[in-house]
Amino acid sequence: MCGIVGYIGSKKAVPVLINGLHCLEYRGYDSAGIAVLENKNIVVMKDKGRVANLDNISGINDLSSSIGIAHTRWATHGKPSQENSHPHMDNSNQFAIVHNGIIENYNELREFLSNNGYHFLSQTDTEVIPNLIHYHYTKGVSGKDTFLAAVKAAVDDLKGSYAIEVISNLFPDRVIVVRKDSPLVLGKGKEENYIASDIPAILSYTKDFYLLDDNEYAIISKDHIQFFDSNLVEHSKEVTTIEWDATAAEKNGYEHFMLKEIHEQPNAIRETINNRLQLGEKCTFEGLTITKEYLQSLNKICIVACGTAMHAGLVAKNIIEKLCRIPVEVDIASEFRYRDPIIDEKTLCIYISQSGETADTLAALKLSKSKGCKTLAISNVIGSSITREADFTVYTYAGPEIAVASTKAYTAQVSLLAVLAIHFAEILGSYAQDKLEELKADISRLPTKLETVLGLEKSIAEIAQKIYTEHDMYFLGRGTDYYVAMEGSLKVKELSYIHSEAYASGELKHGTIALIENGITVIGILTNPDLAPKSISNIQEVVSRGAKTFVVTNQELTNVSFDFVIRIPETNSLISPILSVVPFQLLAYYISTAKGLDVDKPRNLAKSVTVE
Ligand code: F6R
Repeated sequence: MCGIVGYIGSKKAVPVLINGLHCLEYRGYDSAGIAVLENKNIVVMKDKGRVANLDNISGINDLSSSIGIAHTRWATHGKPSQENSHPHMDNSNQFAIVHNGIIENYNELREFLSNNGYHFLSQTDTEVIPNLIHYHYTKGVSGKDTFLAAVKAAVDDLKGSYAIEVISNLFPDRVIVVRKDSPLVLGKGKEENYIASDIPAILSYTKDFYLLDDNEYAIISKDHIQFFDSNLVEHSKEVTTIEWDATAAEKNGYEHFMLKEIHEQPNAIRETINNRLQLGEKCTFEGLTITKEYLQSLNKICIVACGTAMHAGLVAKNIIEKLCRIPVEVDIASEFRYRDPIIDEKTLCIYISQSGETADTLAALKLSKSKGCKTLAISNVIGSSITREADFTVYTYAGPEIAVASTKAYTAQVSLLAVLAIHFAEILGSYAQDKLEELKADISRLPTKLETVLGLEKSIAEIAQKIYTEHDMYFLGRGTDYYVAMEGSLKVKELSYIHSEAYASGELKHGTIALIENGITVIGILTNPDLAPKSISNIQEVVSRGAKTFVVTNQELTNVSFDFVIRIPETNSLISPILSVVPFQLLAYYISTAKGLDVDKPRNLAKSVTVE
C-alpha cells in the first residue's frame, strides 16, 4: 500500500527520496511523487506508474534541495493519475503533504473548504489536508510553533487513519509529521534525519530509529527531532536500534525477492527458534510472563490474523489443542471484529501479522483489549503497530520480507507457534515431557530437512512447466494437510492468477467433485500416516474422473499412481506444514515466472494492507 519517505540534511534530497521509494515498491502502488523546497518554493513532481518514471520528469535531477517528502500511492479515492498522485499542495502552494491512510470525513471537509473559497484539483481524500492546514494557519493559531499548531488544528478536524508528512516554504528548515493507525518511523542520522513508513526504505542510511506513536507529532530538522503528544506537550523518546542488515533487503543474486526468501527459510526458522528451544530444557520466551494459573483460567484461545498469517494460525490451533488441551478458535481478523465475539478475561487472543500493520488485525486486537482479554502479538517487524498495542509480543526473526507473497514469514510463524505451544504445555504440565522432547527434537531438525526440500526445486520447476497453462486447480488435504492446501492454493492464486481452491479431502464429494473433468489439475497433500490412506482414496476418486494429479507426500506410496509426486522428509505431522508448504511456494513461483508475471508484486496486491 502507500509508502512515505522524507529527508532533511545536507545531501541532495531527491536521490535519497527516490531510492527510498524504490525500496518501498514491494508494498504495491500505482503512482509516485516527490516535493522539495527549492529556492523558497515548493516543487512537486509526480506521475502515475512506476517510481522509475520519476527519473524521466524533466529537471528532477537538477533539484538541489536538501529537504523533501515523497510518496508511492495505492489508489483508494480517485483512479491512478497524475493529479491524484501525492504530494498534494494547498491552493496557495505554501504547504505540501503526503498521506497514508484514509480520511473518512473528507466529503464534509471538502464541502467546508469549498464554502470557504478553496478548490480541489484531485479526487483524493488527502487534498483536504494541506488546505485545512492553510485555512487554520491564515485564520491564526497560537503556540510556540505556528506551523506545528496549524498542522495540529487540521489534524483535529480529521476522522480516519493517517501518517502525514508536511513541508512549507514558510518554514524551510523542518518537516512535520504525525500519525494515527498508520506506521511512520524516523531515522536518526548525523546532521541529517530521515522519515519513512517502512524501515527498509531508509535502512541503508541508518539503523537508529524512533518509532512514532499514534497521535504523536514530530518536528524534524537537520540537527534534531522534537516529539510532542496530542496536546503539543514536548517529550523525549528512546532510539530503537534495528539489527537488520541493509543487504537483507536486497536480492543477493536471486532473480526475485520471493525466490531468495523461499531459500532463506532454513535460516529464518533457526533464528526464530534459537534461544527459545533447547533440547532437554524448558522452552523460554523473553518478556512473556504467562503463569500456570493464568493458562488454567482460560476457557479458550482465539488466534486472529489475515491471509497467510491466518493459515499459520490454523496449523497452530491443532498444535495448541493437542499439547495444551485448551480450545482454540481461529478467525479472519476482518470477520472477528464485526461478529461480536464472545471473549473476556478468560480468553487469550493471539494476533499474527508479518508486517504488524494490517488494519483489520490491529482493529481486532484493540477490540479484544477493550473486552478485557490479554493479547499476544506475533510479528516480524520490531516496533510495528500491533506489537505496541499488545500486552505481549514475541517476534519471528525471519528478516525483512519484501516479496508481496509471504513465504519465510509463514514458516517462521508456524515454527514459533509450535515452540510457544510447547512452552504453554510445559507450564501447564498438560503433555508428557518425553513426547515434548521428541517434538522439540523434530522442530530443531526442521531447518536441515527444509534444505532437503529446497533441493527438490528443479523437479518442482519442471512440474510447473507442465501445468502453468491450466485455468483451475484444486488442492486437497485432511487435518493439518488441509491447512497447507489452503496456503498452497492461496500462493498459486496470488502469484499465477490461476483459479484455485482448497478443500478438506473428505468434503470434495459433497458438491465440488461435480467440477472435476478430464485434465483438471488436483493437488494432494499427504503427510499424516493416519490420514493418508483416506486422502489417497479421495484422490483416486478424482483420478477416475480424469483429473491430472500432483501429490506432495512424506509417505511411501504403493499400488497407486499419480502424474507427479514430490517426496519430502518425514516429520511429526503437527509441524509437517513447515516442510510440505515449500513445494507449493516453489510451484507458484515457477508458474508465475513461466507466465512472465510480476512475481514480487502481483497485480492488485499490497504487502502491508493498512486499510480495511
Ligand atoms: C499472502 C500474504 C497475505 C498476508 C496478509 C496478512 O501471501 O502475504 O495474505 O499474509 O495480508 O499480512 P500480515 O501478516 O502482514 O498481517
